[in-house]
Formats: sequence, structure tokens, C-alpha cells
Amino acid sequence: MKVHTYEKAFLAVGAVLLAACLGALLYAGTVHGVHLPGHVARVDPGQVMQTPPFNQPGVRQTGPGQYEAVVVGMAFAFIPGQITVPRGSTVTFIATSRDVIHGFHIERTRVNVMLIPGQVSRVVHRFDEPGEYLLICHEYCGTGHHGMSGKVIVQ
Ligand code: CUA
Repeated sequence: MKVHTYEKAFLAVGAVLLAACLGALLYAGTVHGVHLPGHVARVDPGQVMQTPPFNQPGVRQTGPGQYEAVVVGMAFAFIPGQITVPRGSTVTFIATSRDVIHGFHIERTRVNVMLIPGQVSRVVHRFDEPGEYLLICHEYCGTGHHGMSGKVIVQ
């Protein structure tokens, strides 16, 4: 079988790009700890507001510099709408939705998960820079989607 020179060249370029992309994935996963959120827990979407910890949404301190923020997403708000922590805090967000799929993205951070009815999402982030961070829903969830936001305030 004769393989044309250009075909060989394109195959070689393809192989190099594939190896580079796999290498980048491995590098991000091992060196920087970038990974998909794993399975955390399930919750009955109709009973979210009665099920711990979602029956008491809010922020609580779990240790020195460690906080846990329990958040419920609903059309079209986050409960609580504002999360305040001191600078340098490591915050574990535990969140779910009580109706439809919502997004959970905190600007200028790697916090970016979906809130899926029935599923619990968990994401950890350390806030070193003081300021106000917008928490936005980035999954289209209905007519009020564009107004669905909250705030993380780092003091
Ligand atoms: Cu909630 Cu878009």
C-alpha cells in the first residue's frame, strides 16, 4: 500500500498533537490537581430543604481557616445569596438544586460545577485575594436565568 507523503506528514502531525494533548491532561491532573468533580452524594430533589445539611444553608467554620458553605440553587437564586469568609480561608462548597439544573461558577476562580437535582456537588477553593466575587448560574435554567447570582465576600 502506498501512503502519500502528505498523508504521512498529516498522520505525524496528528500523532504529535494527540501526544501533546494527552501530556497536557496528565500534567494538569497530576501537577495541578485539575479533575472532574466526583460522585459525592444523592439527595431527594423534592426534599432538599428538609434534608441535612441543606435544611440549614449557610456558612460555618469547621476548623482554623476552614469553612463549609452549604448552598441551594433554585429558580432564580442561590440560598444563601451571600457568603462571607475571611481572607485565606479554604471553603468547601456543598451544593445542590431543588428544581432544575443550575450552574455554580465563582468568577476569577476554578469553582465551576453544575447543580443537578438529586446530586450533591462538592468543590473546594482557597480565597487568598480579598474582594467581592460574583457567584453566577451559567446553565440556562429559565426566564430568570440572567438574574440568578450571588456573592462571595472575602474580607
Ligand atoms: Cu439558574 Cu441559570
